[in-house]
Amino acid sequence: MKENYLKDLNEAQRQAVEDITGPSLIIAGAGSGKTKVLTCRIANMLEKGIPASALLALTFTNKAAKEMKERVSSLVGPEKVRYLWMGTFHSVFARILRTEAQLLNFPQNFTIYDKSDSKSAIRSCIKELKLDEKAYPPAEVISRISRAKNNLRTASAYAADDQAMQADEASRKPRIADIYALYAKKCRLAGAMDFDDLLLYTNILFQQNSQILSLYRDRFRYILVDEYQDTNL
Ligand SMILES: Nc1ncnc2c1ncn2[C@@H]1O[C@H](COP(=O)(O)OP(=O)(O)O)[C@@H](O)[C@H]1O
Ligand SMILES: [Mg+2]
Repeated sequence: MKENYLKDLNEAQRQAVEDITGPSLIIAGAGSGKTKVLTCRIANMLEKGIPASALLALTFTNKAAKEMKERVSSLVGPEKVRYLWMGTFHSVFARILRTEAQLLNFPQNFTIYDKSDSKSAIRSCIKELKLDEKAYPPAEVISRISRAKNNLRTASAYAADDQAMQADEASRKPRIADIYALYAKKCRLAGAMDFDDLLLYTNILFQQNSQILSLYRDRFRYILVDEYQDTNL
């Protein structure tokens, strides 16, 4: 251990670091030491002999992930950190998806589309369907598809969702479901996932493969999430 991390904690923090049985949720203001608790809790778990491979530490933003990695590294040293799964939801899901890609019929080295890749793919879908970008502004189409994916709705689930269909009809964009379907097909053909697909396909992976779900459940016995307020869980 690089430093005696327990002595720098106040009583409430020390309790949250030391009691590692069962789930806990820490709610406290900015700068009050939540990340400190989380990083010390990881250090404490490793010191108690919990293998690094049983821990999964998640954050929502890259900035928070970087900070967490640096702070854990300064507590336990860089060697141990190498075996910890620590990162954003998206990066951890991407790692799981690369490992299990074949179960979803994606190549292991699938491409991850950034926002501009997504946008150009969406625009070519709009064009291919002979729709007008004035009636279907790409940014708006993308945001609807993104919302659907974050609600874990595939293109076919979206098309089967009466409420979504009525809303698209009411806003005079009844072909969004078709754009979504074509976009999903194009992405698959290109061996590509967009950011939202990382969430959607991880969910599909675990829904459809209960043995894979058990595998990850058994492996990650301790899941720690920083900046939980930024998630949509
Ligand atoms: N008990 C403590 N005693 C002294 N400094 C602390 C204590 N807890 C946290 N800090 C320091 O306060 C700052 C903010 O802590 P941090 O864990 O980043 O807060 P949060 O994640 O809640 O915003 C950090 O520099 C941290 O080292
Ligand atoms: Mg913090």
